[in-house]
Amino acid sequence: MPHTLTISDQARRANGQAIGFLMQQAVENADCLSLAAGLVDEQTLPAELARITLNELLGEPHKGRQRLQYGTTQGPDPLRRVFRTYLAALEQRTDQLEHIPLRRFCLTTGSQQLLTLIVRALFNPGDICLVAAPTYFVFLGVLQAAGATIIPVQSDQNGMQPQALQTELQRLQDQGQLHRVRLVYIVSDFENPTGVSVSAERRPELLQITKHFSQESRILLLEDAAYRELHFDVPPQPSIWSLDDDQQTVILAQTFSKSFSPGVRVGLGVLPDELIQPVSDLKGNDDFGSPHLNQHLIARTLKNGTYKSHVAKVRESYRGKRNAMLTAIDREFSNLTDVTWYRPNGGMYVWMKLPEHIETGFNSPLFRAATQQHKVMYVPGELCYPPDWPQAPRCEMRLSYGVLSEELLDEGICRLARAVRSQLSQ
Ligand SMILES: Cc1ncc(COP(=O)(O)O)c(C=O)c1O
Repeated sequence: MPHTLTISDQARRANGQAIGFLMQQAVENADCLSLAAGLVDEQTLPAELARITLNELLGEPHKGRQRLQYGTTQGPDPLRRVFRTYLAALEQRTDQLEHIPLRRFCLTTGSQQLLTLIVRALFNPGDICLVAAPTYFVFLGVLQAAGATIIPVQSDQNGMQPQALQTELQRLQDQGQLHRVRLVYIVSDFENPTGVSVSAERRPELLQITKHFSQESRILLLEDAAYRELHFDVPPQPSIWSLDDDQQTVILAQTFSKSFSPGVRVGLGVLPDELIQPVSDLKGNDDFGSPHLNQHLIARTLKNGTYKSHVAKVRESYRGKRNAMLTAIDREFSNLTDVTWYRPNGGMYVWMKLPEHIETGFNSPLFRAATQQHKVMYVPGELCYPPDWPQAPRCEMRLSYGVLSEELLDEGICRLARAVRSQLSQ
């Protein structure tokens, strides 16, 4: 070959992101019990419900064929109407929310596509995004590819700390950098990776702080509510989006991947007015519409109530798995000094902190012991911080109860505890 291929800056910046490493590790350690995979539980996937619904949808002669046709870039109006009604019910604000113009609703290929489109619509290299520390690592990859500057904001068991957000924005203002801030990104419910939710008190505070600093140029708050419907103990708080009076600051991203099926990959976004056109233009270039039939499938189950009963079953199953993982962790880790973990009320993840000297990264002795000797895999916590952030803790793990059965979760935690003990005794 005469010359090396010249690739774009964007593709170069996308190189080496966490999701690529993780997938590689999953392939290389296929014989391990996986507490790493963020996949949904296969046992809960609604094969029968999807089959019956598709049968109905395709059984109607004329309409059936239409549903196999392209849709529209943001999703056809009648479908978006169904999704709007669903969201209004979720927010328990049917009266107000039913009036939001349909043009602000966008159906996407999972919420991941919406996250990517938003970053492409808002960011030039060097523009700033503030994220919770830690945060959803795939979104960090999207920001990196865009050349964004990522600023982590201190978080705890109640989500992003408002005071820390205020301090960071004030610092940026003092440094004359406020005009570069585009976005605050928050996973509001049962967050990936920590399982924590932003508390009721913090939601309006985070919104107010974002609005307060939205002066020299607009700062938007991207609320990623991917796990919102996977609540086990108490229903989640009203979204931050619902607290935004004029609805011009918060972008809401939702998905049916976790509650229904990632293979169907339907996402739902609600956008402030000024973002509609840019996002729609970019999406037009990408795909001029996400899979139309899949949107019909979700919309039909939303309308006839089968979605609601399905999600109730999904919650039951995950609640059992969450309990199984926490019971095993309590048993295996309680007597280890300086090991702590969060107790999630929903979602798919438990976040564990080890003593500071025990690193958890792919190249650490613990990761090697876990995968090669004890045959168990986890997600190193450091992937969930910006890669160039020197203060990032190196001793944390994301443990998922997504894919394994209750029995195998128990076994996986036993193996992990053996691996950790082997390092503590070194
Ligand atoms: C926090 C968060 N947001 C968004 C997504 C994207 O999911 P999807 O594109 O399937 O909707 C995920 C997937 O794991 C996630 O964890």
